[in-house]
This record gives sequence, C-alpha cells and structure tokens, in this order.
Amino acid sequence: MNIAVFASGNGSNFAAIAGAIKKGGIRARLSLLVCDNPAAFVIKRARKAKVKVALVKREDFPAKADFEKEIIKHLKSNHIDLIVMAGFMRMLGKELLKGYKNRILNIHPALLPSFKGASGIKDAFDYGVKVTGVTVHFVDELMDHGPVILQAPVEIEENDTLASLEVKIHQLEHRFYPLAIKLFAEGKLKMQGRRVKVLNP
Ligand code: GAR
Repeated sequence: MNIAVFASGNGSNFAAIAGAIKKGGIRARLSLLVCDNPAAFVIKRARKAKVKVALVKREDFPAKADFEKEIIKHLKSNHIDLIVMAGFMRMLGKELLKGYKNRILNIHPALLPSFKGASGIKDAFDYGVKVTGVTVHFVDELMDHGPVILQAPVEIEENDTLASLEVKIHQLEHRFYPLAIKLFAEGKLKMQGRRVKVLNP
C-alpha cells in the first residue's frame, strides 16, 4: 500500500509516520509528501527521509479543481492508495474526495466534534475544558467532520500551560496516527454509515 502524506507546516506527524513505517509493522510504503507551502519545514524532513516531494501551490492554479487535478496527477503517478492529512491546512474539494472516497485520513488535536478548525489545542485550553484529546477520522466534504476512527482523551491538569498541553497532544498524535494507518493497511476499518468499526485491533 502506497501512502501520500499531505502537510503544510512543521511535519512532526509526517516524521512520526515515516519513523513507524521504517521500523516495520505497518504494511505500507510512505511514497509521497504533498505540500502546498514552499517554506514548510516538512519538506526538509521528507528530503532527509528520502521521500519524494510534490510541491503544489494553490496560487499557481486559477481554480481549486485545477489545483487538485495537479495533485491527483502526482498521486496517480505514484500509485497512491491512501492519503494521510497531517496538518494540511486546506479543505479538500470534490476532485480529491471523489477520487479517494474513504481513503483519506485526517488527524485533529481535539475530541471532535469539539474545537474544530486550525487551533484546536488552544481553543480547548482557552475554553477551560478538563479533558481534550486527539481524533483520527475519515475526511468528508466538511471541515474536521468525517467518520471517527480513533479517539483518545488528554486531561488538562491544574498546572498545565498551553505549551505543556501541546506537548501532550503531539505525543499522543505521534503514537496514534501510525496506529490508525496500520489498522487501515490491515483492512481492519469497516465503515457502517457514520460509524467506523475497528476489527480486533
Ligand atoms: C497537528 O497537531 C494536527 O492535529 C493539526 O495540525 C498539526 C500539524 O502538526 N491539524 C489540525 O488542526 C486539523 N484541523 P505537524 O505539522 O507537526 O504534524
């Protein structure tokens, strides 16, 4: 199974996924990084890990559909089976969603449907909730919305700061995302409407 990670920024999840695949235990190859931001640190990480990079900038295309068609060209030429969104700060449009139905994962740093959007950790911290967490889900046409695959809680303790909470969330993400990919690769995720059944994890 060939995987493409989509990322726009730092790429710590990219690194965790690359590391987990390298260690073995996930029946998949990390074949491609799709990035929309030439300044993103994730590009350096990909080069170091010897993963091919497709840099596709939205501003180079008149319409979103053209931008996505260009991405799809890269996905097809690299025989990609699964798209893994890891901090790709863009909503996917019809082209990608149609072409890769139920084959696109996303990770969100909060317990969906709470605290959607680009600042889930800070929004949960500022709200004052006692428990937040991490969600891995299939992607649909709405933001941070598709069927939930895995979810786990993170407690916000009295002495936590935003920075310490970020560390806890990222540590959980880095264990969790490779696990979700492993389950997908082993055919253990079964869609039942909005529900995702995980077969003997
Ligand atoms: C991750 O925390 C991920 O959950 C978040 O972007 C970060 C990317 O970090 N995604 C979202 O907020 C999606 N709504 P990384 O570039 O270090 O992997």
